[in-house]
Amino acid sequence: MNPTVSNSKNIDESRQGEAFYNTDSEVINHGNLKQFYIESYGCSMNFSDSEIVASILSDCQYRPTRDIESADLVLLNTCSIREKAEDTVRQRLRVIDKMKKRRPGMTVGVLGCMAERLKKTLLEEEKLVDLVVGPDAYRDLPNLLGQVDDGDKGINVLLSRDETYADINPVRLESNGVTAFISIMRGCDNMCSFCVVPFTRGRERSRDPFTIVSEATHLFDNGYREITLLGQNVDSYKWIHPETHETYSFAKLLELVALIHPDLRVRFSTSHPKDMLDDVLYIMARYENICSYIHLPIQSGNSRILSLMNRTYDRAWYEDRIRAIRKIVPDCAISSDIIAGFCTETEEEHQDTLSMISWADYSMSYMFKYSERPGTLAARKYTDDIPEEIKQRRLSEIVAMQSEVSLKNLTRDIGHTFKVLIEGDSKKSNLDFKGRSAQNKMIIFPKQPGLKPGDYVQVLIESATSATLMGRIVPN
Ligand code: SAH
Ligand code: SF4
Ligand code: F3S
Repeated sequence: MNPTVSNSKNIDESRQGEAFYNTDSEVINHGNLKQFYIESYGCSMNFSDSEIVASILSDCQYRPTRDIESADLVLLNTCSIREKAEDTVRQRLRVIDKMKKRRPGMTVGVLGCMAERLKKTLLEEEKLVDLVVGPDAYRDLPNLLGQVDDGDKGINVLLSRDETYADINPVRLESNGVTAFISIMRGCDNMCSFCVVPFTRGRERSRDPFTIVSEATHLFDNGYREITLLGQNVDSYKWIHPETHETYSFAKLLELVALIHPDLRVRFSTSHPKDMLDDVLYIMARYENICSYIHLPIQSGNSRILSLMNRTYDRAWYEDRIRAIRKIVPDCAISSDIIAGFCTETEEEHQDTLSMISWADYSMSYMFKYSERPGTLAARKYTDDIPEEIKQRRLSEIVAMQSEVSLKNLTRDIGHTFKVLIEGDSKKSNLDFKGRSAQNKMIIFPKQPGLKPGDYVQVLIESATSATLMGRIVPN
């Protein structure tokens, strides 16, 4: 999406615009059922939400299709995190509008964070869409679609304090049948000064842990072998049992999910440095199937900038958390998110970020230029005063440093053997499989007869690039 970070391995952004479909829908004739097409932008939570939307739509006679041209309903599940993310969607809407002129019966809807941020302006000023639905209003889709059928526009952008879609069984769309996301909470109560998420997703709320365990169990029974528990700040997960008043923390939830089956791998994202405490680390150390990997975004390596960002930790606190990880889960890989050129950042402060990448030995990072978002604390209080070319240069330096650190980090794995969950064919060759180690490192290795996606194998690492390990299967 953002060409300036194309070499930053940003999975979220590289997945932008991916179309979801269900292969069943191509072979089954669904008679007079209507067809919907959905494209998802932004973070994993948005991709997970699209699966909730698919479930709600399938209850009202819609089937997924991957052919936008034949769809009755075209939905974009959108992201507002940076200006570029919104520009991409606006461009896409103009292309879709041309299709709509040819096929006036087609309904076009914007879902997700842009729907929440821009609300009515999407309907009134841009006139490109029929439907605007915020992240907490997906249950209202059947009703809103009815309004569109009656010739009106449909809009619902109400945020909720308790909606978690706990009872909705997501329709797994673009699935490899091995790995799946499960949302465990919604919204965010932090107020990082640069971030639009609290405005687009509303207050933080945690989902009933028993519905999470049952969704994960169901996935395991259907052949899935890895689940990723999703939230903007998973460590602040907190659910109180309405009858026993027992409190369920994230550490407790993690343990409940790990106990489902030793062959079900558990991952989670994202961890916030201020809330990632030792209790979670001890649970990780106790269960082999909880993957030794933590995405722990630092944002900046400088304490003054962290304070302006309202991250509520400083560099010393972050370093202490890294030391705790190294002590309690010694084989754990750590990755990060980094913002270049936040308001008033000096060259020395930028250097602190570079030194942090090296000190923390991140296996990888998602790296961004600061993009001012209307309405955020930073937009109201500070000036976006770092010139574009300086932001770009600092980002390039951050990307270069991370590449160097990643290469060193991955090179250390050569000669070691890792347990790998096979996810499917490698992108480059159907003679090779791809899979990941517990540390979330992608590993490519030649296939062997009798093995299939969902199987575990031991792989001896023989070579490395800054993004991928290559190896061969060895006996258990
Ligand atoms: N909840 C997660 C992050 C969600 S947003 C956390 O707290 O870590 C994903 C990443 O986008 C953030 O970590 C941050 O690095 C980046 N980001 C968010 N707002 C941004 C902005 N205004 N400009 C540039 N990058 C931003
Ligand atoms: Fe945004 Fe901060 Fe919440 Fe993450 S923790 S979603 S960066 S406000
Ligand atoms: Fe984007 Fe919304 Fe996720 S702003 S990053 S889609 S929570």
